[in-house]
Amino acid sequence: MHLSEDFPEDLPAGLPKAELHLHIEGTLEPESAFALAARNGVELPYADAEELREAYRFGDLQSFLDLYYALMAVLRTADDFTELADAYLARAAAQGVRHAEIFFDPQAHTARGVPVGTVIEGLAGALDRSEERHGVTTQLIMCFLRDRPAESAMETLDAAKPCLHHIVGIGLDSAEAGHPPAAFREVYAEAEALGLRKVAHAGEEGPPSYIREALDVLGVERVDHGLRAMEDPELVERLVRERVPLTVCPLSNVRLRAVDALADHPLKAMMEAGLLVTVNSDDPAYFGGYAGDNFRAVREALGLDDHHLRELARNSFRAAFLDHDEARRARYLAEVDAHTSGRAGGPSR
Ligand code: HPA
Ligand code: ZN
Repeated sequence: MHLSEDFPEDLPAGLPKAELHLHIEGTLEPESAFALAARNGVELPYADAEELREAYRFGDLQSFLDLYYALMAVLRTADDFTELADAYLARAAAQGVRHAEIFFDPQAHTARGVPVGTVIEGLAGALDRSEERHGVTTQLIMCFLRDRPAESAMETLDAAKPCLHHIVGIGLDSAEAGHPPAAFREVYAEAEALGLRKVAHAGEEGPPSYIREALDVLGVERVDHGLRAMEDPELVERLVRERVPLTVCPLSNVRLRAVDALADHPLKAMMEAGLLVTVNSDDPAYFGGYAGDNFRAVREALGLDDHHLRELARNSFRAAFLDHDEARRARYLAEVDAHTSGRAGGPSR
């Protein structure tokens, strides 16, 4: 189910934006999963795509992850990863995404016998052509599974060394509760020594202390989700002062029951507290919408005006890892202004 039909005004979809929290494996649509399963001789325990879609009723993060990891079995060859990423980039472009920093989970594939090089070269096959084909610039962020040992993360980082020219940074994802960031201190130190940028999921289902740990022990530059920071006013003050971006995923938070309903989502309160928040789709094939759909949904549910939307779009480019090309960042910010000129708000800063 996509939300587009319900929101005739296309400002949110057309608004130029960067997507900074997107798991490429979470863009596997049911129809593509069946096509890949047939091609690769993989049996799926569902009659068809409709029946699979029916299973997308999640009680929490873990119930989603169980299905998400199981369905990845259909991804086997470099071409599979190229097709997956190319399909995402086409969809993202249609929803105003101009720049995408894309997560992938190497351990979820190496554990099934797919080498990390196959995954990275396959993804790069789509990313390298993305600007030309879709008008979307891209970066790749390699995420480690926090519910597996830190040694496995370190081995994965080692195995990826021949392909690091494709990778801008590392992240940390999977089941959060009971898996605090500090266990990954050495992996993050090694990644920093290799010149990689650092992000981590924290405060999606884990407590505010996990956000502090991600900042203080891992040295992350952005926090993925970060929702539960709102329980800790001192932490909010610090995140505002240090301008730490939070990559928020509204439809994901509803589907995984981090919030009861979109109308209860703290996004607007986070903006009003001065936090540098961005809006992203997380796993759009599973959570009911891509980047523009998330913008539309929060506009409707939280009563965001054009000023809020413009600020969210600006934040996405401010928070992007575009330090190597500040001219490009400036062009993207100017595109946001051009798209919203005549609407509320002043020039970009
Ligand atoms: N949280 C943690 N791990 C994930 C998610 C998420 O929302 N999506 C894919 N892996
Ligand atoms: Zn995520």
